[in-house]
Amino acid sequence: MNKEINIGLFGFGVVGSGLYNVLNLSEASHIKISKIVVKNPKKKRSIPSENFFFDKQTILLDLKINTVVELINDPEEAYQIVKTALKYGKHVVSANKKMIAEHLNELIALANNNNVSFLYEAAVAGSIPIIRNLEEYYNNDTLSSILGIVNGTTNFILTQANEGISYKKAMQIAQEKGFAETDPTSDVDGFDSKYKLSILIKHAFGIHVNSNSIFNNGIRNIKPRDIQYANEKGYRIKLFARAEKIDNQIIGFVAPQFVKQDNFCYQVNNEFNAITVEAAFSDKQLFIGKGAGSFPTASAVLSDISALVYDYKYEYRKSAVEGKVNFTSNFYVRVYLGSENRIDLSRIDLIQEDESFFSDEYSFKIGWIVFSELEKFDFNEWKEISLIILPNEVELAEIQYFTLQNTTELILE
Ligand code: HSE
Repeated sequence: MNKEINIGLFGFGVVGSGLYNVLNLSEASHIKISKIVVKNPKKKRSIPSENFFFDKQTILLDLKINTVVELINDPEEAYQIVKTALKYGKHVVSANKKMIAEHLNELIALANNNNVSFLYEAAVAGSIPIIRNLEEYYNNDTLSSILGIVNGTTNFILTQANEGISYKKAMQIAQEKGFAETDPTSDVDGFDSKYKLSILIKHAFGIHVNSNSIFNNGIRNIKPRDIQYANEKGYRIKLFARAEKIDNQIIGFVAPQFVKQDNFCYQVNNEFNAITVEAAFSDKQLFIGKGAGSFPTASAVLSDISALVYDYKYEYRKSAVEGKVNFTSNFYVRVYLGSENRIDLSRIDLIQEDESFFSDEYSFKIGWIVFSELEKFDFNEWKEISLIILPNEVELAEIQYFTLQNTTELILE
């Protein structure tokens, strides 16, 4: 017999209203939304106003509601709601990546102590079922890397830029389609991607790296000359979130990257996301799907709610390594730095410069740098510089980075 899922829904924006519609279209009669709480009583919505409540306690104190679905924008308010719901013994499904990335271990402990589920598939890469796959499918296969495109808005803007559509126009469309965050800086400066990367690292490698410790450089500084360079080389530019395990060290960052034609992500366009997982036995696998938008994201929320019917919980089996594995910036990466101003470029020293071009209008240089040196600069705010990661020249479709010792050897060769 199916267990009844009585939902208290917080938020009726792009994803909340999507979930409402998806549930109406699905045949899940044992799943029902009992109450909806929203912030703004005056806002016009697609269903009659008598469906809405405005006080969060209406849901939190309702003993018949066994599941809270949290789909609001405000991460701090979401944190308070989720914490209280877990303490009150309600299952929680959330899509709030910032809130999850910042409080993950605390929320896991709360869920465990209260013997309830805390699920958040929709928080990472929209419709792609990546978290449950990392939890279940890759449980016994040692992962070496997880990387890809986890932000639909920026992929949409970059795809449109390739078609000659301006950044402003593409952003406007992304906002109209409900892909972008309320504050789209989170998308375009790579914050949204790094919240998602923090969650992926927990499920792939077992450690919680707070997003404050993850470097993010977004797409705002990419200039037409950078796109021209990419086109000349046969590359496309994608905003990549990537994490890799090297020995007992984890590295991870968000930055634009040149991708070659044979990279799995080359053809991934518009709001599609794509994640490549590399594991010891299964080798490389690609997951692709819509990463933003009402129904695709709601489908992931629905999948979590459906999993509650059979009491599904993440088990975090890889977390046994917490404390034994470090997150490090001690690695080398090969970068392209472009600028209209040579003096700006000269402020960043590369260890080994292997290509450069200087003119009065535009200059760039390419070479190796220690990642911790890159982290000293806030590239999102340093508009003159475009920073793009290079693909490996030897092994295609990979960034080449090494432990310090290996890199030293490489340079000496
Ligand atoms: N703003 C996010 C994106 C929404 O564009 O990917 C989905 O998390």
